[in-house]
Amino acid sequence: MNNSKESRSLHTPSSGPRASGTVAIRWHGTSLELLDQRLLPAQEHWITLEGASSVAQCIQDMVVRGAPAIGISAAYGVALAARHAGGGDWQTEIKQAIRELSVSRPTAVNLFWALQRMERVFDDCGALSDAQIRLEDEAVTIHQEDLAANLAMADHALEAMGLSAESGCDTPISVLTHCNTGALATGGYGTALGVIRRLHERKLLKQVYADETRPWLQGSRLTAWELVRDGIPVTLNADGAAAAILAAGEVRWVIVGADRITANGDVANKIGTYSLAVLARYHKVGFMVVAPSSTVDMSLQSGADIPIEEREGTEVREIRGIPLAPEGVTVFNPVFDVTPASLIDLIVTEKGVVQNPGITGMHALFG
Ligand code: MRU
Repeated sequence: MNNSKESRSLHTPSSGPRASGTVAIRWHGTSLELLDQRLLPAQEHWITLEGASSVAQCIQDMVVRGAPAIGISAAYGVALAARHAGGGDWQTEIKQAIRELSVSRPTAVNLFWALQRMERVFDDCGALSDAQIRLEDEAVTIHQEDLAANLAMADHALEAMGLSAESGCDTPISVLTHCNTGALATGGYGTALGVIRRLHERKLLKQVYADETRPWLQGSRLTAWELVRDGIPVTLNADGAAAAILAAGEVRWVIVGADRITANGDVANKIGTYSLAVLARYHKVGFMVVAPSSTVDMSLQSGADIPIEEREGTEVREIRGIPLAPEGVTVFNPVFDVTPASLIDLIVTEKGVVQNPGITGMHALFG
C-alpha cells in the first residue's frame, strides 16, 4: 500500500494484549484509510483518501466521528496536504487545508486542538520536504498519544471506582453507556468504552447497557458492534429505557465520553447525556465522564460558551431513506447537549481524575 521511503504506515492498535482488534483509521504515509461508520454494522467499507478536502468532507458527513478520531483524522488531513502539495505555493495550500478542516464540525474541540498542534509544526518548517516529514510525524504522534491516553484513563477510572487491582474488589458491576466512545471514535481502545473494556479484562464487568442513541444510532450500530466483536456482555436499549434501567438498581455507573470540557467542568457530549446525568443523580448512580486532555478547553468558562452543532432534520425524519415522520415536519436536531459539572461525579483524563468537578479541580489539573 505504502511505498515511498520517508512515509510510514500506522494502523495501531492491534499490537499488545490490551488492544481491541477494531480500528477506524489507517495511515499509509501517502494516503489515509477511514472505515465508513455510516455503513456499520452491515458493511465494513474502507475509504481511501489522499487530500485534506476529502478528509474534511468525511468528518462533516460522519464517515469518521467521535471527538478524538475527528482530531486524529484532521491531523492526517494536514499531513496529506503537505504530502501532495504542488511545490509552488505549498504554504498557501497547507494553510487552506487547515482552514477547510477547521470548519468540518464545530463542537468537538479535539479538531481545533489537533489543527493548532499541526499549525505550530507547519509554522516552524522552512521547506516543503521538511514539512512533509515533520507534519506526518506529528500526526502519527497525535494518533499514538491518543491510544496511550485511553489505556491510562482505563487504569485511572478503575482506581477512582475503587476497583483497582490493589483494591482486592472482585465483584462484577453493571454499567450504562451512551453513544459510541470506543476504538471507532478514538485512536484505539476507547475512552468510556475503554474503561468498560478494562472492567471486562479484569473480570469486573457483569454487563453493559448501551443506549441506541437516536437519531444517528451510534449505540446500536457502533457500540453494540464493537462489544459483540470483543465478546463483552452488552444489552442494547432504547434511549427511553435508561430511566427504568437505572431505577431497577443494578447499574452502578453511567460512563460516557465528551466532545468538549470547559474550565468549570461542564461537559458537552452526545444529545441525551444531560438527561442521563439527571437520572443518575436522582437514582444515586455514579456519573463518570472519560476524555483525554485534548478534549479539555480551558479557554471557555462554562458550557454555555460551547458551540452546539445542529444537523439536518432528515436524520430524525427518516432512516436510510425510510420515512419515520410526515414529510417536511419541523425538526429540532441538536447533536450534543451540555451536562453541568454539578451533576458529574468524576472526570477521568490521562493526566488524572477530577472528583466533583468545578473550577478549582479543573485548574488544579489543567492550569
Ligand atoms: O456525533 P458524534 O458521533 O461525533 O458524537 C460522538 C460523541 O458524542 C462521543 O461521546 C464523544 O465524541 C467522545 S468519543 C470518544
